[in-house]
Amino acid sequence: MSSLCNKHPYRRTPGILLGSGLAIVLSSMLSGCSGAPSVLSPASPQGSQIAGLFWGVFAVAAVIFIGVETVLIYSIIRFRQRPDSPQPPQIHGHWTLETAWTLAPALILAGVFVATASTMVAVTERQQSPLRVLVTGHQWFWQIEYPDLNIVTATDLHVPADYPVEIEVVSADVIHSFWAPQLAGKIDVIPGHSNFLRFTPNQPGVYRGQCAEFCGAQHANMGFEVVVDSSETFDNWVKEMQTVPEVPTTGPAARGAQVFVSTSPCFTCHTIQGTRAQAKIGPDLTHFASRRTIAALTLENTPENLATWLEDPQAVKPHNKMVIPPLRQDAIQDLVAYLETLK
Ligand code: CUA
Repeated sequence: MSSLCNKHPYRRTPGILLGSGLAIVLSSMLSGCSGAPSVLSPASPQGSQIAGLFWGVFAVAAVIFIGVETVLIYSIIRFRQRPDSPQPPQIHGHWTLETAWTLAPALILAGVFVATASTMVAVTERQQSPLRVLVTGHQWFWQIEYPDLNIVTATDLHVPADYPVEIEVVSADVIHSFWAPQLAGKIDVIPGHSNFLRFTPNQPGVYRGQCAEFCGAQHANMGFEVVVDSSETFDNWVKEMQTVPEVPTTGPAARGAQVFVSTSPCFTCHTIQGTRAQAKIGPDLTHFASRRTIAALTLENTPENLATWLEDPQAVKPHNKMVIPPLRQDAIQDLVAYLETLK
């Protein structure tokens, strides 16, 4: 190795540099994608149509790329200058060739346009009596309502498998974008205007979703999850969500309930059905303990993480709207005990 490098120090270096550069770029691209939800592993017919469109356009682009590069590399080698090369023939232009390479891309692009437009029409098609969900984007969480079921929650969007879903999206503040890559296309979430997204999930599972439009400091922590349940599990979930939890009457949970409805930033921002807390600035906490995460996927929903959050929400998710005076440790423990009863 060292003798080779010493003999040809300048010839080896560009190859090594190029090779390692490519390796770094490729590995960082691939590692960035590992574990991320992909449009290419769809879980609904609409998702499959979008993935199909991607592969179709990719195939066309790949054929063109290989064709153009083959001709290019052939020309570079075949027509390279040699020491005794004569002057090449000088031409003005080539009508047939120029017409062909103008028409061919135009036709290919027209084909891509038709495929794209027909996919867009297909994935937005209205379905018969869908499950209606109203999703409202807030800085920085997703409020999720089922107007026909009288349910309000946040972050976890439960839907039954093999049943059409129609999601209406609106924003409470700035422009967001609602995107669950495996289930449906991306849709802008605009203040004062409703947009619609339709899909029929066909595999039970949990599908990561994300705000896909920069919307401020915590844009990256504006996640959600689509939980696709079997129809039986979904029905049970609906029943649980429609039940107003009882307010605990003894122990730390009862003290926590008292803290919640008497401490100004709690009940003046959140709703807990069955209590005087009916505000709509922060997420509805009526069934907080049934959710998988805290603060839109920022933390897993465990008592320890909830205590960390209540100690200093600004340290966990800077600039979020939960600006509260420091709570006493015993108040935090009581609030955790209470909130964990809200199944
Ligand atoms: Cu909401 Cu980005």
